[in-house]
Amino acid sequence: MKKQAINFELNGEPVEVFTEASGSLLHLLRGQLGLLGTKEGCGAGECGACTVLLDNQPVNACLVPAAKIEGKQVQTIESLSTSNTVHPLQESFVKKGAVQCGFCTPGMVLSAYALLKANPDPTPGEVKEAISGNLCRCSGYKQVEEAVLDAAEKKDQASSED
Ligand code: FES
Ligand code: FES
Repeated sequence: MKKQAINFELNGEPVEVFTEASGSLLHLLRGQLGLLGTKEGCGAGECGACTVLLDNQPVNACLVPAAKIEGKQVQTIESLSTSNTVHPLQESFVKKGAVQCGFCTPGMVLSAYALLKANPDPTPGEVKEAISGNLCRCSGYKQVEEAVLDAAEKKDQASSED
């Protein structure tokens, strides 16, 4: 397989990797870069477990060839927390009981994060739509929707206190 240098921005930092251009972004992130927060479920674009943001849009990393990320911004779940802090969305997921086995959670959180960035005050229907590509085998959709709406409310309160 042919390897090539690919330059892109990963979680805000410039990165150069030497990798198989036709390999998936998912395998690049997990196998080569050791970012295991992005999960591999179906490997076929159907479960959303591998969701990452590509230029701020949620994509299934298992379907994106590594060559396609040249010059782009990739954001993974690792960008939302540090060893001491978690993102308010993640706090809402815990508060609302939206994390069961947790396998779908990174993808759900990133889909919700992209939604709230584009639309800080979504309706329940818009939340449902935004996470429609993320499957949860623990059937926790209701709690996930509540968590996203809870995070949106916190954002509203924070901006009204500014
Ligand atoms: S692993 Fe990518 S959509 Fe399922
Ligand atoms: S929490 Fe288990 S798959 Fe969603």
